[in-house]
Parts: sequence; C-alpha cells; structure tokens
Amino acid sequence: MRSSCDSSPPADRAPPGDGAVTSAFTPDAHFRLLVESVEDYAIFLLDAQGNVGTWNNGARRIKGYEAHEIIGRHFSAFYPPEDIAARKPQKELDTAARAGRVEDEGWRVRKDGSRFWANVVVTALRDAKGELIGFAKVTRDMTDRLRLAELQHARDLSAHVQAALEDERTSIARELHDDLGQQLASLKMQIAALDAERVGAGFARHSLRDTQGIQAQIDTVIASVRRIAAGLRPPVLDDLGLFAAIEWLVSDFRRRYGLAVTLDISGDEVGFGPDASMSVFRLVQEALTNVVRHADASKVRIAIRCAKDRYTLTIQDDGRGANLAGPRAANAFGLLGMGERVRQLGGVIAFQSSPGEGFRISVDLPLNGLG
Ligand SMILES: Nc1ncnc2c1ncn2[C@@H]1O[C@H](COP(=O)(O)OP(=O)(O)OP(=O)(O)O)[C@@H](O)[C@H]1O
Ligand SMILES: [Mg+2]
Repeated sequence: MRSSCDSSPPADRAPPGDGAVTSAFTPDAHFRLLVESVEDYAIFLLDAQGNVGTWNNGARRIKGYEAHEIIGRHFSAFYPPEDIAARKPQKELDTAARAGRVEDEGWRVRKDGSRFWANVVVTALRDAKGELIGFAKVTRDMTDRLRLAELQHARDLSAHVQAALEDERTSIARELHDDLGQQLASLKMQIAALDAERVGAGFARHSLRDTQGIQAQIDTVIASVRRIAAGLRPPVLDDLGLFAAIEWLVSDFRRRYGLAVTLDISGDEVGFGPDASMSVFRLVQEALTNVVRHADASKVRIAIRCAKDRYTLTIQDDGRGANLAGPRAANAFGLLGMGERVRQLGGVIAFQSSPGEGFRISVDLPLNGLG
C-alpha cells in the first residue's frame, strides 16, 4: 500500500522498460502555455517601441483587455493621463534599456478607466548581438495589499488617538480634582473662617445668610467637579478594578436616568490589564449611553462571563431597536469605536437588532489579549 509520502511512481505511469522517455515535451511551447495561463500576473512582451506584442490570461484579468483589443497598441494605454503627460512610459523603457531592468509601483488604468495599484517590472530583451529587440513586462495588481496597508494604518492611527484621548481625559480629570477641587475647598474654608471671625466680632448670625448661601453653592460646584472628573476617568476603575467600575457605572445610570439595568457578572477579572479594563469600561459606557439616547428601553441586561480562556460580554435592551443594514450616519462613531476597541484586544464583536426588537451587543474576548 502507498503512503502519502511514498515518491515511487505508480505502476501505470512507470517509464518503459529501457528507461527511454517518450513524452512529447517541447520546452518552448510548454513555457508559452505556462506564461499564457498564469492568472495572477500580467505577463506580456513589448516591441522596442513599446507596442504590445503578446497577452496572457493574467493581463486580460488585471487590465480588462482581450488580446485582439490591445495587441499592436502602445503600452502607454495602461498609464493615467498625468503619467503620460510626464512621459513616464517612455522614461521607463529608456531606463530598462539602459539598466537592463526597471521596477515601479504606481497607479495604472484598466480598460474601463478604473485604477489599480500596480507593481511593474520591465526587462529589456536583447538578441545575441546585443541589439534591443523589445521588453518583457510583468505587472501585479497590488490594490488589495495597498488597501490592507491603508486600513492597518487607519487602525493604528485610531488606536493612537484613543490612547491619546484617554491620557488627555486622565490629565483633565486630575486637574479638575486636584486643582479646581482643592481651590474650591479652600475657598469654602476661608469663607467659613470669615464667618467665625464675624460671629466672634459680634455679628448677628442672621446677617451671615449670604455667605452660607455661597458655601452651599460652592458645595454644589465641588460635587459637579467630582462628577465631571469621575466621568472623564472614574477613580473606582484605578482603585477597585473593572468590575467595581462597571457596577458604579450601572448605578450611576440607574440613578441619573432611572434606567432598569441588571448586571450579572461571573468569574474574576484577573486577566484584565489597565488598557483592557479602560476599553471594556468605555464600551459598556457607550452602550448604556446609546440605550439612553436611542432605545427608549424599559430594561437593560449586562452579562459578563468568564469561560476557561475567554470572556463574553453581552448588553441587551428591550427598546425600539435599529435597522443595522441601513447606511451608517456620517457622525455616528460609537459602534465603530466599540469595534475598534474589541479588535485591539483580539476579540470579536457582534451587533444584533431590528426595528422593535431591542438591541444586543455581544463581545468575545480572548484572555491572552487583555493583559
Ligand atoms: N441601544 C440602541 N437602541 C436603538 N438604536 C441604537 C442603539 N444603539 C445604537 N443605535 C442606533 O445605532 C446608531 C449608531 O450608534 P452609534 O453609537 O455608533 O452613534 P450615535 O450614538 O448616533 O453617535 P455617537 O458617535 O455620539 O455615539 C445610532 O444612531 C442609533 O440609530
Ligand atoms: Mg453612540
């Protein structure tokens, strides 16, 4: 019995007894067939003036011309007008003729006028006497790679902006708490000291009503500063960790908006590093903000579960839902930001909703991406 690693030829394809090779293998014809059938590269010949002489399947697929439509035409047909105006096609041939070969990356034009990002190699062909007889041109469509690189760049930028935003929020929260908060507290103490002096100097208590009003107002401002600072960077997240911060967030939404939120957490949070904690916190915060802004829901349920090597998080409301198949509003970034945060943690996010059916966000996070 033959194993998959056995390299001996099968009996029905063994060479004849004396070992003579009877195949009709003709290298030139086979080579031409090979070139013609290649799909991923446009491979063709130009004459010394740059007119197309041959055409393979890849060229037809990438550039959109049938062989009879392009053979005999000058290869500058593949270049955008600005390159033709700059005489780029001729310069490439001149360089290839001089140096033997030229490689280039840039936009090229298909038959239908659309552009693609091409990697192009032009090689000069010379006869035995060294006379230039034409060029071989190999073109590869790199548009997908370019788009992928652009996407990666946009994602890196977005991660950078998000991190910068968190830093900025942290420093504003610190300034508000440490600077403005302290100054207000000191102002309040000074007014209290002034009151004590005035009482000592024999002022009647009822004449202090104004300053007591000011003290009460300062208390309100201090509470506002604390609330704003906590919203920017909840101290509980740094002090007590992610799950405690989500509990604080949920009770804040219950209190401020009367939202009926149930929170169901199972497992522990050992796996979450500071960045992952902040990302998950922001995700829940955006989801609850969306419920308040868009859902008109009577109930919201948040569940966080820890399985062996992953966390799942679901946030589900029973509100009016949304048509997710419709176009995204140009100024809506919340769901997009959630997706980015989850992607940076190596996880997967899904949104499920339809009008009248509530809104559900499901997140799956691998434990090893959260440190
Ligand atoms: N819980 C929800 N219930 C109903 N519709 C929702 C819910 N969450 C989001 N949506 C819909 O999805 C859209 C996109 O949400 P997203 O958070 O991305 O943007 P936004 O809240 O409109 O703006 P922002 O950029 O300030 O977050 C919303 O405009 C809303 O129509
Ligand atoms: Mg939103």
